[in-house]
Amino acid sequence: MKPFFFQFAAILLLLLNTIMMIETQAAYVKPQRVTCYKRYRKCYLKYITCPSECPEIRPKDPYAKECFLDCYSPKCEAVCRKRRPNCDGPGAACYDPRFIGGDGIVFYFHGKKDEHFSLISDVNLQINARFIGLRPAGRTRDFTWIQALGLIFGFHNFTLEATKAENWDQEADHLKFTYDGMSFNVPIGYSSAWNSPDENLELERTSGTNSVRVTIQEIVEISANVVPVTEKDDAIHGYQIPKNDSFAHLEVQFRFFGLSPNVEGILGRTYQPSFKNPAKPGVDMAVVGGDDKYKTSSLLSTDCNSCVFTPGKMFAERDLALMDYGSLDCTGRGIDGGKGIVCKK
Ligand SMILES: *[C@@H]1O[C@H](CO)[C@@H](O)[C@H](O)[C@H]1NC(C)=O
Ligand SMILES: *[C@@H]1O[C@H](CO)[C@@H](O)[C@H](O)[C@H]1NC(C)=O
Repeated sequence: MKPFFFQFAAILLLLLNTIMMIETQAAYVKPQRVTCYKRYRKCYLKYITCPSECPEIRPKDPYAKECFLDCYSPKCEAVCRKRRPNCDGPGAACYDPRFIGGDGIVFYFHGKKDEHFSLISDVNLQINARFIGLRPAGRTRDFTWIQALGLIFGFHNFTLEATKAENWDQEADHLKFTYDGMSFNVPIGYSSAWNSPDENLELERTSGTNSVRVTIQEIVEISANVVPVTEKDDAIHGYQIPKNDSFAHLEVQFRFFGLSPNVEGILGRTYQPSFKNPAKPGVDMAVVGGDDKYKTSSLLSTDCNSCVFTPGKMFAERDLALMDYGSLDCTGRGIDGGKGIVCKK
């Protein structure tokens, strides 16, 4: 009896030891190094070691933060950031659309359901949003959400849509994509990726289903989730969502690289160096208008009254814009994710 017990204990100890060893091994990841290959940037060919809290550029764990070096930021340091959109960070468009401008100010733009509005209109980039929504009896305006994004850059176009879901199922994917007018599939699964044939655009899933990151090198990075309007939201806000539609929509966060000083659009203008936000900081529910200025005739048209997009221009005015970034300090904003983001005052 006794020898058996000791044997058992010894085996158990050995097992525990092995498990612990494996665990310590897994916990330590040698921090990777990052650099920028673009000339004239502060970080050009400087190798920066990632912080130990986020040692990897592409962590295998979907919930881990990633290491990121913003080649445009005036400070050349690697920072940690979430892979999914941060609805409380600059460049966010979430909920019934609540925006956070490049200036960090929160504002609402309601628009109208089943219409399209320009979020960004710059010489080399246009981003439109399709709004879906409903208007319960007796209300004076529509409740709206962003259901799709349409991008036009150079001579290319790209769309990202949340597909309709009667009943929400997180395990099912609700994303649909097109590039240059052709739809394409990205296999379900974390870090599954797709590149456009000309390598202009890269898309990566940041969770098994319903989350992606879209990158157009040197121009924009978009993190997006598809989410439903939950019963809780419905109860709080009184949307009166019908039983047969979950109003699947997008939560988005944009990061822009090299916007021009004349950038327009609901969100775009908040990145103008001289922009004075009509929404005052700290004011609850600051609603910003401009339907007439930003309405486009479709998801991929650039015909709004304030639109400034010019087809074919890939990098117009970039270096001009760069001078602005160089003189600006974006640190100390206290918003998570704010550090790696190009911001202007
Ligand atoms: C999108 O790009 C394709 C390929 O260049 C083009 O044929 C199509 O007309 C574009 N779509 C729109 C709406 O501009
Ligand atoms: C949902 O139900 C409403 C009536 O309550 C109907 O008008 C609408 O067409 C239905 N939508 C779908 C997607 O079945």
